[in-house]
Amino acid sequence: MSTLLKVTNLKKSFQGVHALKDVSLDLAEGEILGLIGPNGSGKSTFVNTIAGTFRPDGGRALLQDVDVTGLPTPAMARHGVARTFQSSRPFLGMTVLENVTVAALLHTDRPAEAEAAARECIALTGLADCVDVTSANLPVERRRRLDLCRALALKPKVLMLDECLAGLNPREMDEGLDLVRLINRTGVSVIFIEHVMKAVVALCHRVVVLNQGELLAEGSPQAVMRDEKVIRAYLGGSSKLCSTSKRSAPATAT
Ligand SMILES: Nc1ncnc2c1ncn2[C@@H]1O[C@H](COP(=O)(O)OP(=O)(O)OP(=O)(O)O)[C@@H](O)[C@H]1O
Ligand SMILES: [Mg+2]
Repeated sequence: MSTLLKVTNLKKSFQGVHALKDVSLDLAEGEILGLIGPNGSGKSTFVNTIAGTFRPDGGRALLQDVDVTGLPTPAMARHGVARTFQSSRPFLGMTVLENVTVAALLHTDRPAEAEAAARECIALTGLADCVDVTSANLPVERRRRLDLCRALALKPKVLMLDECLAGLNPREMDEGLDLVRLINRTGVSVIFIEHVMKAVVALCHRVVVLNQGELLAEGSPQAVMRDEKVIRAYLGGSSKLCSTSKRSAPATAT
């Protein structure tokens, strides 16, 4: 598999907090890469820094060998990088269709074309039954799907999912995993952030672990879960990684 996204020595600090210290990782074409780590380890900062929300303090990001380091969000989206936010943030006063159409306008200035593209994404993500519902009225599970749908309407090559299954019950989570697999089969490579290890193991081809802004481990999901360094980072030396929906701490709203 060829490398789609190559990140080298990415750095980002916030007033003395080194959220990312020289993080390097590759995402292959077609891959679902798990990005895990305890609360505050730098996962969302990684997404924000690659997607253009934050400018990195150092390092490089190459997308299909094109240097995209530090580009703002709209430019990154045009290059094919999309993301969902840890806290869902649709335009609350707009319907599902309107929300997705706004995203689809990235690729066309014709409203009818954008709407047609939006309807395709809505069908793919299983939202056809609430196409005219105002987003503020959607239950959590539908809103998480809408996040995915809006990102998909940007026609990404790389889709970064920052806890896109948070707040879902086990059945909804399984359906969410199926949807991510479906999206991946359409040719989208995925960076998947999640605290529920069972979901990471079920979905990801490979996993990278961050701890305190540094890359701690990398490998197959099974190998990473058995890695003593990883277990210590999560649980301070206890012998088992969380395998159910228990979280290590409340997630920050980033
Ligand atoms: N906008 C910001 N301003 C200041 N500090 C920040 C900001 N964003 C992140 N940080 C800090 O950077 C560090 C990494 O945070 P980040 O949100 O990336 O962690 P995370 O791995 O996504 O955690 P979680 O699993 O809780 O979502 C933390 O110490 C956090 O407080
Ligand atoms: Mg986070």
